[in-house]
Amino acid sequence: MHSDKIKVPAPKIQNRQFVKPLLCGPGPCDYWPSVTEAVAYPCITPNCEEFYNVLDEIRAGLQYIFQTQSKLVLAMSGAGHAGMEAVINNLVGPGETLLIAARGVWDQRAEIIAKRLGIKVEVTRVPMNTTFGLEQIETELKRLRPAALFITHGDSSTGTVQKMDGLGQLCHKYGALLLVDTVVSLGGHPFFMDEYEADGVFSSTQKAFSGPAGISPVAFSTRAEEKINNRKHEPSFYFDVKLLAKQWNCYGDTRVYHHTMSPPMLWALRACLQEVSNATLPVVWARNAASTAHFHKRLQEYGFEFFVPKPEERLTTVTTVVLPKGVNYLEFTAVLREKHNILILEGRGPTEGKALRVGIMGANARTEVADILADAMADTLNTMLSSS
Ligand SMILES: Cc1ncc(COP(=O)(O)O)c(C=O)c1O
Repeated sequence: MHSDKIKVPAPKIQNRQFVKPLLCGPGPCDYWPSVTEAVAYPCITPNCEEFYNVLDEIRAGLQYIFQTQSKLVLAMSGAGHAGMEAVINNLVGPGETLLIAARGVWDQRAEIIAKRLGIKVEVTRVPMNTTFGLEQIETELKRLRPAALFITHGDSSTGTVQKMDGLGQLCHKYGALLLVDTVVSLGGHPFFMDEYEADGVFSSTQKAFSGPAGISPVAFSTRAEEKINNRKHEPSFYFDVKLLAKQWNCYGDTRVYHHTMSPPMLWALRACLQEVSNATLPVVWARNAASTAHFHKRLQEYGFEFFVPKPEERLTTVTTVVLPKGVNYLEFTAVLREKHNILILEGRGPTEGKALRVGIMGANARTEVADILADAMADTLNTMLSSS
């Protein structure tokens, strides 16, 4: 039919053979086997009972993993950036000030997003291999009186973890909301949204959740809800949590269509949350901590150095490793992939050319994986040093 009108010929899309590497970068991480099965579950359509029941189960799992009793908990259709944009766009209006606590690449992304939304951005910094103390944050909150503070809990570009105790309370003392990026930490490193009094938190499924990228959990506190209900600005339609809350039945009385969510993503997220709920958070956190501690011990035995000097500031899920002078980071990752079929990544943003980013989390949080990886990294370094 209409073949005479075809001006662009059909491309040859061949079947491909793909040898999957062991995913030990800062994300994406290997899937749980249950997630691999879940993405092939039948398609569920919006507006049916089954669909809304799945959303209810996901919301309950998210309240558990965020450790929040807040009702306004759901997942954005999109990668971690969707969560970041949604949290900023819903909670800070054009002309308001967002204070960004910067130490890596993700706060730079927050800055770009906020500026595009017409938000006034102020930045406070610490050296990239360290984290913030409360005094510095307080000085800036007092001086700038921002509408919100943005901070990254686990930073996958630097391998640091920010201590959260007291941060929300401090923000609230100065009338600011606390926005937190937990993309690479949630489900791998302890996080307690309500205890920290965080107001807008977002995450992703492709890291310690051990699922596919493409759906981004978000949670808003009651303070955040107040702001959302009284804000003067209209956020983007797609990211408007006021509308999405109705689709997700956050208040128990609405089941309406907003957009067609991806069934494989919903099934995958549900499977990730089932893994964590069945094992329980303390067990999952202990598993992640133990495999990383073992990995660090093995790296030290091989003489590798850490990019983050203070052990208490090192993130459980992603470790940043410094190579001896003269060893090329990109080449190291290529040799490791070529010789051992393991994928890790070089630095990103401020750590480019300064560190490797190595992730042991979620389904890979096992001492066997830590041993395989440490041995392969030592072999890669020896290979490179002996050929130079
Ligand atoms: C800490 C952190 N925040 C945000 C992002 C962005 O997430 P995504 O790539 O899923 O959009 C990443 C991705 O690596 C991340 O590690």
